Amino acid sequence: MQKLIINGGKRLGGEIAVQGSKNATLPIMAAAVLCGGETVLHNCPRISDVYSAMKILTYLGCKAGFDGSGNTVVISSETISANDISDELMREMRSSIFFLGALIGRTGRCRITLPGGCDLGPRPIDMHLSALRKMGAVIREEYGVLDCFADGRLHGAKINLSFPSVGTTENIMLAAVLAKGVTVIQNAAREPEISDLADFLNKCGADIHGAGSSRITVNGTEKLHGCEYTVMPDRIACATYLACTAAAGGEIIASRCRPSDMESILGVFEQMGCIVHTHGEKIYFSANSPLRAVDPIRTMVYPGFPTDAQAFVMAALCKAKGTSVFVENIFENRYKHVDGLKRMSADILVEGKVAVIEGVPRLYGAKAAAPDLRGGAGLVAAALSAEGTSEISNIHYIDRGYEDIEKVLASAGADIKRE
Ligand code: UD1
Repeated sequence: MQKLIINGGKRLGGEIAVQGSKNATLPIMAAAVLCGGETVLHNCPRISDVYSAMKILTYLGCKAGFDGSGNTVVISSETISANDISDELMREMRSSIFFLGALIGRTGRCRITLPGGCDLGPRPIDMHLSALRKMGAVIREEYGVLDCFADGRLHGAKINLSFPSVGTTENIMLAAVLAKGVTVIQNAAREPEISDLADFLNKCGADIHGAGSSRITVNGTEKLHGCEYTVMPDRIACATYLACTAAAGGEIIASRCRPSDMESILGVFEQMGCIVHTHGEKIYFSANSPLRAVDPIRTMVYPGFPTDAQAFVMAALCKAKGTSVFVENIFENRYKHVDGLKRMSADILVEGKVAVIEGVPRLYGAKAAAPDLRGGAGLVAAALSAEGTSEISNIHYIDRGYEDIEKVLASAGADIKRE
């Protein structure tokens, strides 16, 4: 079992080039199944979830792999030789669910089991299934196996989402691009990764309008083709490195990012007393004075404060002067990092969906286990600001979403190594 060993108290500095977006890369890799040709994707992060998506693509009969040592993934989907996915592969990550929309769109048939992923409380897929049924899919669910058929092609439909779910919006788009007729998604999620998926699909010949707004229209087409595409920067990884800098103190430049996607998070860092300047694809960030508590943070759908940033922003607030409050509105069980933060002497009280953080003058290094991907990143941020040595275990969670986290932080001056 690998661990991260962190000697806290080192200020961060220098430039961090932000990786490509995990949450954009994964649905786009599934979308490559629809293209029936060669897809060349630049800026894909080398993270374990991307390797899991490659394993699924290979299982389906596609060719998929990194092209050399960089961040370009090449996928060929001329032939699809299977339309089922094994339980083992489905369980490796939550994003395996995107292959449902993609496979039924391409082959009219799909047999999968329920997806895995971080345990953030119940993560049902009822909205995905009900939308696909509206588009003509017949879906049988037995003992955790989903058997899905379309009689020929799916058909377009008007779908009103009861909640703007990111994954459901993306799965409908995937199923709709090769369906007969027009699909309209009302109350669609507006996350930037949805626009990235739409831009990719449109470059492959799809006809999608309105991505990034609450109403998305997909005009079904008969055939798509492969293309070359550059995945957007990872706004959550970028925010993680800013939170690490806020927690540890220092000054960094985050480059190759898109600050306009991050306004709600950047506003919180400014309230903490950090200085944030944005210019083009760069964020100049400094945390040179003691941090202050902030107004209550309520996690919301985009453009609200993202639930994915809650854990590491909380870690940065553990030493901020005053009381900060989080209200987690998206997932039921997303405070599992609090236990690790408390081991480092943070003062946090959790009651249902509310967490109250009383700033303390110092954190102390401790042994803690990453409970999930972003919770693990929160523990790393706290360990960087703690006195003494911390050991973070269960880092396979962190590796699902961060490319070489220890190398990135070490290059910025942190004392961190993988053991
Ligand atoms: C995506 C992101 C994840 C982020 C989340 C919220 C990816 C790969 N993952 O996850 O990092 O934390 O958005 O921004 O992009 N729900 C249902 N039924 C459904 C689907 C969702 O009840 O069929 C509920 C979920 O349980 C959750 C809420 O809707 O409470 C939001 O989920 P959703 O937006 O779908 O998140 P994901 O797509 O799983």
